[in-house]
Amino acid sequence: MDGWMERRAWLPMLNQLPQEGLETPLAMAKYELEAYFAGREKTVCRLDAALGEGFEITEENGGLSIRGGETGVLYGAYALIRARACGEDLPRGVQKPYYPLRMINSWDNMDGSVERGYSGRSIWFEGGRFAYEPARIRQLGRMLASVGINVLCVNNVNVHQPAQHLLDTLLPDTARFASLLRPFGVRLMLSIDFSQPMQQGLPTADPLDEGVRAWWADTARRVWSAIPDLAGFLVKADSEHRPGPNTYGRSHAEGANMLARAIAPYGGALVWRAFVYNCMQDWRDQTTDRPRAAYDLYMPLDGAFDGNVILQVKHGPYDFQVREPLSPLLLGMKKTNLAIEFQLAQEYTGHQIDLYAMPPMWRECFDQMGKERVRAIAAVSNLGRDDNWTGHPFAAANLFAYGLFAWNPDADPEKALRQWAKLTYSLPENQTAALTGILMKSQEAYENYAATLGLCWMVTPGDHYGPNPYGYEFQAWGTYIRADRNAVGIDRTGGGTGYVNQYPEPLRSLYADAHTCPDNLLLFFHRLPYSFVMKDGRTLIQRIYDDHFLGCAQAEEMARALSGLELPFPDRKEAEERMQKQLANAREWRDIVNTFFHRFCGIADDKGRKIYD
Ligand code: GCU
Repeated sequence: MDGWMERRAWLPMLNQLPQEGLETPLAMAKYELEAYFAGREKTVCRLDAALGEGFEITEENGGLSIRGGETGVLYGAYALIRARACGEDLPRGVQKPYYPLRMINSWDNMDGSVERGYSGRSIWFEGGRFAYEPARIRQLGRMLASVGINVLCVNNVNVHQPAQHLLDTLLPDTARFASLLRPFGVRLMLSIDFSQPMQQGLPTADPLDEGVRAWWADTARRVWSAIPDLAGFLVKADSEHRPGPNTYGRSHAEGANMLARAIAPYGGALVWRAFVYNCMQDWRDQTTDRPRAAYDLYMPLDGAFDGNVILQVKHGPYDFQVREPLSPLLLGMKKTNLAIEFQLAQEYTGHQIDLYAMPPMWRECFDQMGKERVRAIAAVSNLGRDDNWTGHPFAAANLFAYGLFAWNPDADPEKALRQWAKLTYSLPENQTAALTGILMKSQEAYENYAATLGLCWMVTPGDHYGPNPYGYEFQAWGTYIRADRNAVGIDRTGGGTGYVNQYPEPLRSLYADAHTCPDNLLLFFHRLPYSFVMKDGRTLIQRIYDDHFLGCAQAEEMARALSGLELPFPDRKEAEERMQKQLANAREWRDIVNTFFHRFCGIADDKGRKIYD
């Protein structure tokens, strides 16, 4: 048996799915209920197309009835199993997902590598083509459906060859792959290259060119006739050297709308990423401020996008840093369909070696933004071919919880993590609580040693794991901390780059004043001397030292709590091995960052702890 089949996942039914039959969500729902309850509980599924993805569980003749639309019954079956397995109450009334598109963006390349992948190679690409175990894809569909995720974008937003051929010569393979996920209500999405017509002989990719429009219209017709339920196209344009409409002097609305019109007849969504900035910045240029870029570009286009365009905005204005304020675009745009983008792949948050559970961060984002500000939700995948799917067995908690948040953005972080822990390991209650506690603390610990006070980018360039305070200082990416012997940070107030003015009130004033700005964003918005006195009376430099010692101590505390858990093999081994690496990493962060600042400012730690000089 393949290694992945033997591994626990949060799915409480450890049986293998039959590989034949079960071609619809309804058939799958009945199968899952039968497999899990084995007659212990009487259940019946009733299709009610009007409910769509929704469902309702009610008591009926001494058993339970799940009434739902075609995929709704399957979601209902999983909700019922989850509630029973966790010993929780059944959901009452009609349950519906809050967002219609609950997307996973895979950054899988067709050579089998995964950009920012920390769980092994691609599960479905290798050697320039689709290459997978159908049983594993079905198990993946099951995992995604069990938490309500309904869109999987299969290829990297950076469309390297031969991924363009997913739309032509490889289209039959793409369609076969889509059909494996259909019984789970998971629809495919494809990342496309804006210049694709030129690879096929057209002289231009200008979105206003008739030939280009016709090319995309024809491509859409072929693609949707092969995959009628394709969810849409995902586009990274004019970003980090990817082609886009700017080459032709056209706006992003013109570029996106051209594609949107080609796919509109088939109900497709055109997901356009707002991750656009100058990645060739001269570090000497202090007038350009990267976090401003997306708002400056897109706000004037608010209202100019077609109805089936979704502008997908990373949650922060930079790039998935450990701590960023919410992107002001998510608060500012009113007439554009928006999606918020998270990154389950732990690029800047510990590479799925260090623990970093994201639900508390999502809670903060939704609380600040308001769930109704966006129409859809996306997350960069943390999946890979490793037997345990996510590299660190606990990183699966982020995928699990992401599904719950996409379904219900009012979800409670602690409850979601506890459910995952319980479903995955069925540990005694006190150990489930301990594991949940480790996860709930993990973000804070990581932030304390890697990005205190909103100071980001102090990472090893390229790789993005481990400390390197000046690693990005003289680079072209717009990623500076500007530490010198007197002060650190960038002034983003009105007197500085003006970035803070992109926020509506009351946030603008809150952030603009260093005395009201939340501590965890202080150095994101302000340039301050080391002697600046914080709200709690400590100096800025003392706070930097303290947080690094604290973060490291919190990692040690997590390690102790972890050693008390009776996890099954090999999860225990994997988790402990990674924890040893995390401890080493936390110490490096503590000592390198503290030494870095100490060497600049020469101010001693007032607790007399060891700082290396
Ligand atoms: C980050 C990441 C890249 C990725 C990019 C994106 O910059 O390092 O690997 O391509 O984000 O989101 O497009």
